[in-house]
Amino acid sequence: MTESIQAFNESSARLLSEIREDLKVYFRYMKGLGYAGVALSEDSLKMLDHWYKGAMAETLDRIRADLGTCQRCKLHRGRKHIVFGAGNPRSKLVLVGEGPGYEEDAQGQPFVGQAGQLLTKILWAIGLAREDVYICNIIKCRPPGNRNPEPDEITACIPFLRRQLRAIRPKLVCALGTFAAQTLLETKTPISRLRGRFYVYEGIHLLPTYHPAFLLRNPAKKPDVWEDMQKLQEAYEKA
Ligand code: URA
Repeated sequence: MTESIQAFNESSARLLSEIREDLKVYFRYMKGLGYAGVALSEDSLKMLDHWYKGAMAETLDRIRADLGTCQRCKLHRGRKHIVFGAGNPRSKLVLVGEGPGYEEDAQGQPFVGQAGQLLTKILWAIGLAREDVYICNIIKCRPPGNRNPEPDEITACIPFLRRQLRAIRPKLVCALGTFAAQTLLETKTPISRLRGRFYVYEGIHLLPTYHPAFLLRNPAKKPDVWEDMQKLQEAYEKA
């Protein structure tokens, strides 16, 4: 058998196995609704389609379940908790940071350390409480000694953040710092050049700004963030 036929057979087998899994989801869902058989009229097929979309709708719970006790990258070895995200899953605004630090790893919650306290104050300054927004990170496990996330760690983790954003479908994303902005916008442009204006990420308006931990080390940059937050507030009120 040539390699291309073998590759074709393997991809057909994968497709069939996906269809079988999808059918199982369909039928379990219908069984849960009390149905015991399938009628094949056009109307029934339309109904099936409708149920399927409901059954397959992306939810944060489903994404968290798929993440499981993740071991997709080396960070699982040193973590105490996976930091999935927190806040209002129906918010118009999602804030995306870099990754958990010591406190976040200990508590399993994003932005609860020193940088988190500053973020809470920044949010208050534009009239928002943490509970009004959803907060998450590019990576979900703490890198040892709070080092920067490595490319393989981002690659392993980013599909979950992308799914979270698709599930929440916020109007606005605020990318906090280099890693959040560069990863979501798929660019190497420095945060100092990215910040302060809106970009479009999967149909969502995305505003990069400096990370609160960077502000703690560089308080002279606070006016820049204040300027960015006023733009964010204006967009939030209009959204
Ligand atoms: N820094 C981040 O980028 N995320 C957190 O959750 C905490 C600190």
